[in-house]
Amino acid sequence: MPRANSGLLFAVESVPDDGLKSPGRAVLECRDNVTFLENLPERSFQLIITSPPYNIGKEYEKRSSLERYLADQEAVISRCVRLLKPGGSICWQVGNHISPDRGVVPLDIVLYPIFVKLGLIMRNRIVWHFEHGLHCTHRFSGRYETILWFTHGERYLFNLDPVRVPPKYPGKKYFKGPRAGQYSCNPLGKNPGDVWAIPNVKANHVEKTEHPCQFPVELVERLVLSMTAPGDWVLDPYVGSGSSVIAAVKNGRDGYGCDVERKYIDIAKRRVSDLYAGRLQTRPIERPIYDPRLPGGGLRSGHADYA
Ligand SMILES: C[S@@+](CC[C@H](N)C(=O)[O-])C[C@H]1O[C@@H](n2cnc3c(N)ncnc32)[C@H](O)[C@@H]1O
Repeated sequence: MPRANSGLLFAVESVPDDGLKSPGRAVLECRDNVTFLENLPERSFQLIITSPPYNIGKEYEKRSSLERYLADQEAVISRCVRLLKPGGSICWQVGNHISPDRGVVPLDIVLYPIFVKLGLIMRNRIVWHFEHGLHCTHRFSGRYETILWFTHGERYLFNLDPVRVPPKYPGKKYFKGPRAGQYSCNPLGKNPGDVWAIPNVKANHVEKTEHPCQFPVELVERLVLSMTAPGDWVLDPYVGSGSSVIAAVKNGRDGYGCDVERKYIDIAKRRVSDLYAGRLQTRPIERPIYDPRLPGGGLRSGHADYA
């Protein structure tokens, strides 16, 4: 195990009795990520997943110039690349930076060249669609963010089966040809696609903590389940309330994370302890989304079947 500073290591290894079969370990440190990352062993992580600050003046960040922000991001991303196993993945979840002189700056567009320069290969630009957020008056309200998924090398781990979703027409069969009469869809479900409708963590979300910008655990779970194997190490260098570490540990992976703010690390530790004790509530990955527009306030599936 890497021990960046054993005095600050947080690991809960008790076996919970809530059905978590073999939970992973959690390592959470209150520390600046550059120092944290430099103390971890190279080529040891199968997945690095994070959502960095967007340089928009949230309580946990100081606004800086876009150039300075990108230079800081590059310093963190290059250290992450050193830690990535060959065949491992980096997922960078971002929205927009809003600048007084440049307007809306989509962070995925300006960060993309950094990943390419560092030798990573892009596999998907996943659109995360959600329903709630600021109501804009001078432009359309933003209702999506993106996840840039890159791999370290041509050969990489990707397992679709654990994240397949129910097909739109489960009973559909081939009506001609050599397979006529057989089911045409995969019995394990279909590929969820690259547009994910997942509720964001607002006031009434079951995962909401005092952190102002959590991402939902189910968003990370889909990445953990498809891009890692049990026992792999997952890292979040901007861990906030610990959502990535929870998604990893819950699924039998080891989760590592750091944050500069003590209050967020305390929240993350509390959530991990609750997970081990079987009392942490997370929104299940397969739960349909409530949609009052459907007849009777029906539920619709979270994967995008917009056709
Ligand atoms: C967008 S939030 C991440 C929230 C997280 N995904 C969650 O679900 O709670 C970004 C986090 O980065 C942290 N942060 C900012 N600069 C940092 C740095 N240099 N090192 C470590 N963490 C940092 C902030 O305190 C904040 O919690």
